[in-house]
Amino acid sequence: MKLPSHLTVRDSRLHLGGVDCVSLAEEYGTPLYVTDLDRVTGNFRRFHAALAAHYPDVQVLFAAKANGNLAVIRALAAEGAGADVFSPGELELAIRAGMKPERLLFNGSSKSRADLALAVEKGVRVSVDSLDELHQLDAVAGEAGKTAEIAFRVNPALEVPTHPKIATGLATSKFGIPAQEIIGAYREALACEHIEPVGIHCHIGSQILEVEPFARSAEVMVRVAKEVTDLGVHLEFLDIGGGLGIPYHHDTDPAPTPADYAAAVMPVFLKGIRECGIDPALWVEPGRWLVGDSSVLLTRVNSVKKAHKTFVNVDAGFNLLIRPAMYDSYHEVLVADRADLPADGTYTVAGPICETGDILAHDRALPTPKAGDVIAVLDAGAYGYAMSSQYNSRPRCAEVAVSNGKHALMRRAETLDDVTAAMETPAWKE
Ligand code: LLP
Repeated sequence: MKLPSHLTVRDSRLHLGGVDCVSLAEEYGTPLYVTDLDRVTGNFRRFHAALAAHYPDVQVLFAAKANGNLAVIRALAAEGAGADVFSPGELELAIRAGMKPERLLFNGSSKSRADLALAVEKGVRVSVDSLDELHQLDAVAGEAGKTAEIAFRVNPALEVPTHPKIATGLATSKFGIPAQEIIGAYREALACEHIEPVGIHCHIGSQILEVEPFARSAEVMVRVAKEVTDLGVHLEFLDIGGGLGIPYHHDTDPAPTPADYAAAVMPVFLKGIRECGIDPALWVEPGRWLVGDSSVLLTRVNSVKKAHKTFVNVDAGFNLLIRPAMYDSYHEVLVADRADLPADGTYTVAGPICETGDILAHDRALPTPKAGDVIAVLDAGAYGYAMSSQYNSRPRCAEVAVSNGKHALMRRAETLDDVTAAMETPAWKE
């Protein structure tokens, strides 16, 4: 199997960022997420540089939903990243990580009044998803004696090649305002006393392995930009969202690079803004591409069972990595102790959760796993720990950061006390 440069095999053992994964599993226990922070910053630099080669005013906003660990967000903040935040929690994390409010965008199709008030208080721009939300934000900003700077989220009605649950710009999806109604929305925003429209936002979906759909959404964006500019709006930014996929099937998936992405999108963007006579900042919101390949999930084999197939029963399941169960996603798996040995059988890696769907990897060719071995699930850095749960009352596992050959905890494992910490015994009154 092809491995990216930060994953290596030495003395038969898998290493991440030069650190032995089997030793990490022994030292910190399993299950365990391990993240190579140098890979995260390297990915950020490649992404930013690819776009900045075409246009100087580029702001990369990390989609914080992909990985909510402060150490990861701090590493990105130190590189100059902003963030796409989708909740008060993500907003708080981004600010604690040192990101400036002007580099954040508060997104979401269902924001509460409290969410809107928080964005106004912190001076964070809002991607507005409906006219109802626009008028609520106008009122909230008025109460605070402030002006809210906004973009509208455009729904470009685009079919994209990805899992239907993560295609976000379909005509039928819950996100955004239909492109044909967007001018009316900007007109309404201009009439609001406490709103200033300054941007346009769009996001067409996630794990997209072709670059052409991004060019098509950029076309919609610049068309809207033209009409909005003609209306008298001064556009400070165009935010084309995230969505560039990564090759989870290492040997067979296409692997479009940020340079390929930029080559598809930038000519459309540059021609469009030239025709409008404007020079807005270009904002992008990658999540998966920045962090996806930076982490492995290490999980220990509890037992091996020959039934209608051979199950390798491990200590991590969809409580810690829900992507295979939720989207039928594929993640490469390796026996970390014998990573360079040839396969001698076909194995299905199953978690400890009480559901038939708790399978991390189906029918994989591996060197015979046995109890005590460490299995590494690759490309677990995006929407991995971030989507974990305490299902079956299993405390979440620890996360370790690796950088420059060193390693340290970036989140301790939860205990059973953490699982019960927020529970109360109702004191019923007769
Ligand atoms: N911007 C917005 C407004 C988004 O909704 C998303 C992702 C992103 C940016 C980042 O997209 P990315 O570059 O990571 O593809 N849990 C799913 C993915 C859900 C994506 C949700 N929105 C998965 O595990 O595949």
